[in-house]
Amino acid sequence: MRSNYCKEITKDLVGTRVNLCGWVHRRRDHGGVIFFDLRDTTGLVQLVINPEIQSFVIAESVRNEYVLKVSGEVNLRPEESKNETLGSGDIEVILSDLQILNTAKTPAFPLDNFQEISEEVRLKNRLLDLRRPEMQKNIRTKSRLTSIIRSFLETKGFLDIETPILTKATPEGARDYLVPSRTSTGSFFALPQSPQLFKQMLMISGFDKYYQIARCFRDEDLRADRQPEFSQIDIEASFVDQKEIMNLSEEMIKKCFVELLNVNLGEVPRLSWHEAIELYGTDKPDLRNPLKLFEIKDIFLKEEFKVFSDPANDPDSRIASIVLRDGDDIGRGQIDRYTDFVREFGAKGLAYIRVKGENPGDLDSPIGKYLSEECKKTLIKELDLKKRDLVLFGAGKKNIVNDYMSRLIEKLGADRNLLRGEYCSCWITDFPMFEKTFEKEIKSLHHPFTCPDIDDLDKLKKLDKLEMNSKAYDFVINGIEIGGGSIRIHNSKVQHYIFELLGIDKQERKEKFGFFLDSLESGCPPHGGIAFGLDRLAMIMLKAETIRDVIPFPKTQSALCLITEAPSMIPDKNLEELNIKRIED
Ligand code: AMO
Ligand code: AMP
Repeated sequence: MRSNYCKEITKDLVGTRVNLCGWVHRRRDHGGVIFFDLRDTTGLVQLVINPEIQSFVIAESVRNEYVLKVSGEVNLRPEESKNETLGSGDIEVILSDLQILNTAKTPAFPLDNFQEISEEVRLKNRLLDLRRPEMQKNIRTKSRLTSIIRSFLETKGFLDIETPILTKATPEGARDYLVPSRTSTGSFFALPQSPQLFKQMLMISGFDKYYQIARCFRDEDLRADRQPEFSQIDIEASFVDQKEIMNLSEEMIKKCFVELLNVNLGEVPRLSWHEAIELYGTDKPDLRNPLKLFEIKDIFLKEEFKVFSDPANDPDSRIASIVLRDGDDIGRGQIDRYTDFVREFGAKGLAYIRVKGENPGDLDSPIGKYLSEECKKTLIKELDLKKRDLVLFGAGKKNIVNDYMSRLIEKLGADRNLLRGEYCSCWITDFPMFEKTFEKEIKSLHHPFTCPDIDDLDKLKKLDKLEMNSKAYDFVINGIEIGGGSIRIHNSKVQHYIFELLGIDKQERKEKFGFFLDSLESGCPPHGGIAFGLDRLAMIMLKAETIRDVIPFPKTQSALCLITEAPSMIPDKNLEELNIKRIED
């Protein structure tokens, strides 16, 4: 139907006839002459319709979002009417013919002025929203990203293998989406939270190198970087160690950045989990931000001021400080606002010290009078304090202090415009195997199939479970976890022991994972892998505000699809077939 896409209409074509197809993005009636901006998936071009042509009458009836097929001659625009904002802003097409291929209802919002439009309206009218050049670019770029990844992995010998969607629960830490079975009354499938067990079983089946752009389903609280249904670049390989998986996937991510954005990620630092928590209070540090935490617990060990000496003497607590160089422009009111901010995350207070000079007497702080000269001297020395510095510090249980101080680092970084560089990535390694939950139980920091860093079961059994480290690794860009993986347990005795530590008894192990535990005993090779969030990666690369901007048909924050209005009520007849009874309230 067409000779060219809009983007192809360049100066080189001046004087030639072209046929174009697309939507009317904008129309202007200039008393006599009509102008349309025609839009297709590649961009916009200006059309000029003079009253002399036969189809002028048709053109007069055309409205925004009508679908057109037009013919005309490419023309250099007069100097005064060039438009810098259009890709093809210095040319136009003078029409000789125009056909309406389809009409359109008045759009719910103007495509060229959507900034004021709520996300809800955009999601309800998603087809219109997706026509916006920005959304077209996002989805197009994500498609190229997928293609780069596929060709990279295929060159490295990875096979694209599918795994089931109707399956059994995979423990990745969220709730499962369940699907009732009609044929096995009362039984349910679970949609996969990830293909974790299947990719491991593919290794046991001898496939050696697997990848898949896999759909994953997790019923969890949604955030700007989370969707209930998302895609993973899922990778697994046999006879590999941690370094090999990390090097391979780092090469893949770097290739994506070079090919799509011409950005070199440079050296990717590798930090242990303990280092990351100590220095940033989080295992997802944003390394564009130069602020760090300094542990100052030791300085308060012998102080009389209990607010700090108590946590200093408690092994479960920490006293973490942030030094803001030249931070003396931050006034009392602002410090109060930062204190309120950290209180929301459980802080008991936020102490501060202003440095008026380089002597202990020059420190100005509401807690100054409670501290010994020795303590102040050591603070100045250890934190290398200079005139005009401001120190903020929090004391309390480690996990609470880490949480609010890492949030404070993020907030200060944004408020004071401290972020440097466009993209900063890092690896986090040596995660603990387990973490304590609020109920004082333990759960896996990754998933229960992650290999401890000690292979010997007897040695392992001598360790306290909270002291055990794993062969797990996460890839972080700009403070967002985009990938995570591990070397897996391939010894069934070790796997049983880990389940035992997690409090999963023999009966439950058999019911939930019997098929998998059996397969570990059938000649399982050592193996490991990783999964990257494809949508998150695209979101970061495109600098999109939310993950929803890189997914054509996303769910809302409350997990609804506004187009189809799913989830929806099911007629009683269907429920009966599934032997499910509606509970009337
Ligand atoms: P994990 O649970 O860390 O690991 O997930 C891997 C990556 O998937 C992305 N991701 C999400 N993206 C969007 N919405 C969500 N709700 C969501 N949840 C996770 C993140 C994350 O880094 N089976 C293991 C991988 C492995 O061990 O190989 C797994 O799924 O970018
Ligand atoms: P208080 O003795 O509670 O009046 O606290 C004295 C100062 O110490 C105030 O500036 C508080 O904000 C601060 N403060 C109290 N508890 C903590 C804490 N756990 N961490 C950091 N600062 C605190």
